[in-house]
Amino acid sequence: MANKIQKPRGTMDIFPSEAPLWQKIEKTARDVSARFGFGEIRTPTFEELALFKRGVGEVTDVVQKEMYTFTDREDRVFALRPEGTASVVRAIIENGKTSDAMPLKYYYLISCFRYEKPQAGRSREFFQFGTEMFGTKDPSADATVISLADTLIKELGIKNVKLHINSIGCPDCRPKYRQALVEHFNSHIDELCDTCKERLKTNPLRVLDCKSPICSSIAKDAPATIDYLCEDCHNHLESLRAHLDAMGIEYTIDTKIVRGLDYYTKTVFEFICDGIGAQSTVCGGGRYDGLMEQLGGPSVPGIGFAMGITRLILAMKECGADKIEDNRPLLYVAPLGTPAVTKALEIVSKLRSAGIYAECDICARSLKAQMKYADKLGARYTLIIGDSELESGKAQLKNMEKSEQAEIEIDNIYNVLKEA
Ligand code: HAM
Repeated sequence: MANKIQKPRGTMDIFPSEAPLWQKIEKTARDVSARFGFGEIRTPTFEELALFKRGVGEVTDVVQKEMYTFTDREDRVFALRPEGTASVVRAIIENGKTSDAMPLKYYYLISCFRYEKPQAGRSREFFQFGTEMFGTKDPSADATVISLADTLIKELGIKNVKLHINSIGCPDCRPKYRQALVEHFNSHIDELCDTCKERLKTNPLRVLDCKSPICSSIAKDAPATIDYLCEDCHNHLESLRAHLDAMGIEYTIDTKIVRGLDYYTKTVFEFICDGIGAQSTVCGGGRYDGLMEQLGGPSVPGIGFAMGITRLILAMKECGADKIEDNRPLLYVAPLGTPAVTKALEIVSKLRSAGIYAECDICARSLKAQMKYADKLGARYTLIIGDSELESGKAQLKNMEKSEQAEIEIDNIYNVLKEA
């Protein structure tokens, strides 16, 4: 026998038993987005590597360790997208969308790729629902985007989730904070891991993200951004808090939220779920007022978030919100003999065209096996057709739930089922 080929590590196969949950999340995400006036954007699965280096940041784990990069036949270097924001910003600049009426409001449902160590809630190919809004610096935009995420999480029936928010300041106040951070970490320089020693020179904020136990214990006592905000950033955060309070969205200020990508300014936030393991951030986002300019576009502020679909599923399972009604056929037609099979196909095809889920035997099975299969599918009604039924044009329609049956005109089946 030939060797079996397996899927790449950290990817997944999703079968019809699991797909309805994915579809429910995708549908609810689209519905909620539409209610907030967000339209769908689709961008390529791969982009020039330079986009992510400049957009996400050279000194981030995503760019340094987790990218899937490749060279094409003409030696151009590309990367599978590790996230959606940089691509959306690139698409806006490239297509001149900044001259459209502001704010621009987009959402996406995409696969992303990061070379990470797979575990529950973390895979190498993963799926995000994300939104991005451009053209407003106002804290009411932050509140709106957070409210969209909050609405979706609630509509999916996820209850064990808390919103954490923080402000990481702007280019005006960040240098002062950066200085304080460098001083703090410099006083522990010998204990830091080698990567963090390097990060301290290039991007000290990233040290706060380090997963090594020693670095993260040093990070615990590090100064908090919130204590170094300029007046504008401070007021921005205060207004956002007032808006969230007014909208009844509960949150905690969490000075440890810095996010793993470099483009953020001012507001950052995460929705964190208890009970789904170490990968507990179901949604992460924030403001990125400098990204458009950094990628060669005009100065247009932005804010957005992305949610991991597999983490949403884990959260839904955790609180029992993952039950989806099975797709059961309204009718199962059991034919006996070739002429009856032809009639059965005619019936189900008419019903399917009329929007009804109907099945018939296409495996030439015995009547007993057909009825067993109809039962397994959960068919609500069955109709057995043999030669005599074909001749009389009448057959017994059986209500499987009530175990009752009645004679009907075969050609009147649509009207009978409509009333059922
Ligand atoms: P992120 O925090 O890197 O942000 O990812 C957002 C979410 O994607 C995470 O909170 C998590 O739910 C999910 N996620 C990330 N990595 C994985 C993985 N390896 N496996 C499964 N799920 C994962 C961003 O991607 C930003 N682009 C979000 C954003 C949009 N900020 C502003 N606009």
